[in-house]
Amino acid sequence: MTVNEAYLIYFSPTHTSKQIAEAIVQGAGIKNIFPINVTQQAAEEVVIPTSALAIVVVPVYGGHVAPLAMERLRNIRGLDAPTVLVAVYGNRAYEKALMELDAFATPHGMKVIAGATFIGEHSYSTDKHPISAGRPDNFDLAFAADFGKKNNGKGAGCREYG
Ligand SMILES: Cc1cc2nc3c(=O)[nH]c(=O)nc-3n(C[C@H](O)[C@H](O)[C@H](O)COP(=O)(O)O)c2cc1C
Repeated sequence: MTVNEAYLIYFSPTHTSKQIAEAIVQGAGIKNIFPINVTQQAAEEVVIPTSALAIVVVPVYGGHVAPLAMERLRNIRGLDAPTVLVAVYGNRAYEKALMELDAFATPHGMKVIAGATFIGEHSYSTDKHPISAGRPDNFDLAFAADFGKKNNGKGAGCREYG
């Protein structure tokens, strides 16, 4: 059984996390998408139903989930919603960011079914000092789409057997 709606939750000041988030949901083949962009403001109170897939994508700052992103996710809850967690980093290190995101998601009622990290152009990249310039590239986006494809259906399975 596959899900037909997704809550696409992201914080993305320089748009790389947003690109990864969109590629994942597109790969999952889900058309009914509720975007929750917390880049400029905190999310409103929302409860994600069990029948929907939650996709949470945030950047890594200093080896952690960007603190403002974490703060702005606080009103989001799930009713055992199958959830995919993603940390996007500038090819230095993501350290424990994905674990931090998991530590947020699970007590917020999200049933984590998968986690991934992707590389985005580092916010401090310049022409003179490029750091993962141009990422995510087409290969990254295709990989994100494939990751999304693999995860639709998995959530329903988890609910049935988990
Ligand atoms: C304040 C700050 C700290 C960062 N710290 C890290 C880091 O510890 N490791 C890393 O690989 N990238 C780090 N980055 C790079 C971002 O994780 C990367 O550019 C990411 O793609 C930004 O996501 P966004 O485009 O969705 O805003 C940092 C960026 C900023 C602005």
